[in-house]
Formats: sequence, C-alpha cells, structure tokens
Amino acid sequence: MNQQPLSLHEIPTGVRCSADYVRLASEKMDPALFAYVDGGSGPGRTADENLSAFANLGILPRPLRRVSGGHTRCTLGGRERPHPIMLAPVGSQALFHADAERASAAAAKATDTCFIASTMASLTLEEVAEVAGPDRWFQLYFQPDRQATRDIVRRAEAAGYTGLVVTVDTPIQLPSHRALAAGFVPPSDMANLRDYPKPAAQDLEPGESDILSGMMRGAPTLGDIDWLAQETTLPLWVKGILHPEDARELVMRGVSGIVVSNHGGRALDGAPASISAIAAVRAAVGERVPLMLDSGIRSGTDVFKAIAGGADAVLVGRLQAYALYVAGALGVAHMIKLLRQELEACMALSGCATLAEVRGTDLVALGAGGRAL
Ligand SMILES: Cc1cc2nc3c(=O)[nH]c(=O)nc-3n(C[C@H](O)[C@H](O)[C@H](O)COP(=O)(O)O)c2cc1C
Repeated sequence: MNQQPLSLHEIPTGVRCSADYVRLASEKMDPALFAYVDGGSGPGRTADENLSAFANLGILPRPLRRVSGGHTRCTLGGRERPHPIMLAPVGSQALFHADAERASAAAAKATDTCFIASTMASLTLEEVAEVAGPDRWFQLYFQPDRQATRDIVRRAEAAGYTGLVVTVDTPIQLPSHRALAAGFVPPSDMANLRDYPKPAAQDLEPGESDILSGMMRGAPTLGDIDWLAQETTLPLWVKGILHPEDARELVMRGVSGIVVSNHGGRALDGAPASISAIAAVRAAVGERVPLMLDSGIRSGTDVFKAIAGGADAVLVGRLQAYALYVAGALGVAHMIKLLRQELEACMALSGCATLAEVRGTDLVALGAGGRAL
C-alpha cells in the first residue's frame, strides 16, 4: 500500500545535517515507498556504489590558506548563482507531499536554486511554473510520438522554462528488487502526458526481441538529440552520460552541457558511480564545458568532492524527495541551506575560498593510505 504524505509545517527536531532527512524519511515513510525511492534498478548495486564511492574519497586539506571573503558563487548556463546546488528532476512528487512539485519549486525559488521540473511530475509543467522562480528548467523524456515531444517542448518554452534537460539513460527502467518485494505500485497518471496518445503496441516479427525491437524502438539516439537541438531555442543539457566519448560527441553536436549521472542507480545496474566517472568526462570535454553531476549526493562534503572531481554544479534527487516528505517546502529549503553550510564548512577546513579553488583540490582514496588519485 502506498503511504499518505505527512503534512508537517515545521522542521522536525533532530535535523542537524542534510543526511538527517534520509534517516527521518527511512523511519517515517511507508516502507514500500521508501524502498521505491531508496532502491536502484534491480538489485541496486550502482545505487550502493554511488554512496560508497563518495564515502571512500578523502580531501587533502590545505590549512593556513586565507578563506575570508570566500563564497560559493558560480556561473552556469549564463546565470550567476549563489551556490552550485540544483534540484534534480524527480517525478510523481505527490507521493511525498500533498503540495507535490509546488512545494519543492517554491523552496527552490526561496533559496535561489534552480528547479528542474520532470516530465513525470504529478503536476503539469504550467502548474509548476506558476510557483517556480525564474531559474527553472524542464526535464524532457522523448515521447514515442515526435509530435508529442515537440508539443511538450513548446509548452516548456511558453511556460518560461530557461533550460531543457533531456534524460537519455532510461529508455526502459527495471524496477528495484526492494520495491518489488515491498509491493510498491508506481503511479501511472502523468499530468504532463494526459493529452497525448498512448504508445501503440509494437508489431514484432517472429523471433524479434520484445525489448530490443519492441520497447527500445522509440528510444532516442544521437539523431534525436540533433533534431531536438534544432527544435528548441532553449539551452540543451543531456542527462545520463558516463562515457567520455559520449560526452565529447554531444559537445561536438553543440549541446550546452552534460549531466554526468547514472540516474541515482536507477538506470543500468552495474554502471560506475558518477563521482568515479567525472574525471574522465572532464578530461574529454575540457575545462570550459559545463558539467553537472548527480547520483549519491547526501552532504555538502559530497558537493565539494563532486566539484573537486570536475563538476561545476550538482543535482540532488533523493535528498529532495526525503526533505519534501519530512517537512514540505520548508524541509526542502532547509535541506538546501544545510547542504550549502556543509559545503562552506568543508571549503573552510580544506582551505578553499572559492569553487575554483575547490576544483584544484586533491582527492585521495580513504582506506588506501591516503594515496592521491
Ligand atoms: C523517486 C525518483 C524519481 C526520479 N524521477 C526522475 C525523472 O522523472 N526524470 C529524471 O530525469 N530523473 C529522475 N530521477 C533521477 C534524478 O533526477 C537523479 O538523477 C537522481 O535521483 C540522483 O541521485 P540521488 O538520488 O542519489 O541524488 C528520479 C529519482 C528518484 C529517486
């Protein structure tokens, strides 16, 4: 059975760090819903790896360096931002709170944070735009029908979204074994997609694979990215890239930037952690191409490591869902504030006054004698 959202209007006691929202959600959420959110695809090896890869990275501190006057400002997508933290596209937020995306978008606005509305949101992109701040992007899933995809893009442009994030790593998605075992039933009504035709059943030749020739028939390819880039006036970001060659190819085709992501372990199980992949992607695309990273961010220290590893900004998925569940808009805003403070504390103790200095910081493997990576 799916849970009833809590309706807290204040921050619960006992939240001292951003990761406390994970703990509180794990204690209070319906176990089936928690299994769905927390789990990754299939057995969830990559979802676990996302956390352990961050945990196993250390930071080589440089005390005695001057950090006063320091800040977390960055410029991304032509906009100066007070901090490098964004809210990842997370679908079906009515599962977490009665106000759904209205609450998380309002929290983003209040904290000067970019909100990325999902194609699979509980509310329409127009409803989200009514409460979101000007820094709002839309996450696009290609639809089986190109006319539907075009129409969604037009709607996002008309509703004032200023970036388009196309997610490419989950043309099919395998459910989490944990969520299946717990009996979680995902919602099927997607507000943004109500008016479009349902995909027609595929006629397969005898011997053709249901998956490779059926479900994957409409899966996006590089040609679709080219088409989309022609279709929209919005900056185009591609989410779900781990291979350096894919990143280089996309940059050559003119995309605005890349989100290095394994979808929080909800795409290919067995893929490496994004934090383990980012250095090679950065080396492939050079210093000037904007790179964002998600998958496994649970603290400001993780944000620091992501930037040191080569990211310009990070997206947070599960932390957003958990904070929304625990304390609505207030919880999401508080979680972002805590992440920022944790990032600043990490910068202070490691001797970094700016994110540019964070980028120059050495990460070391913990548990391996502090060997530099
Ligand atoms: C419950 C849930 C729903 C998600 N829905 C979407 C979605 O609709 N579109 C998308 O591109 N990514 C989606 N994601 C992936 C996130 O955008 C992000 O890549 C991932 O959560 C990052 O990992 P983290 O949860 O460890 O921060 C979802 C993730 C979760 C946990």
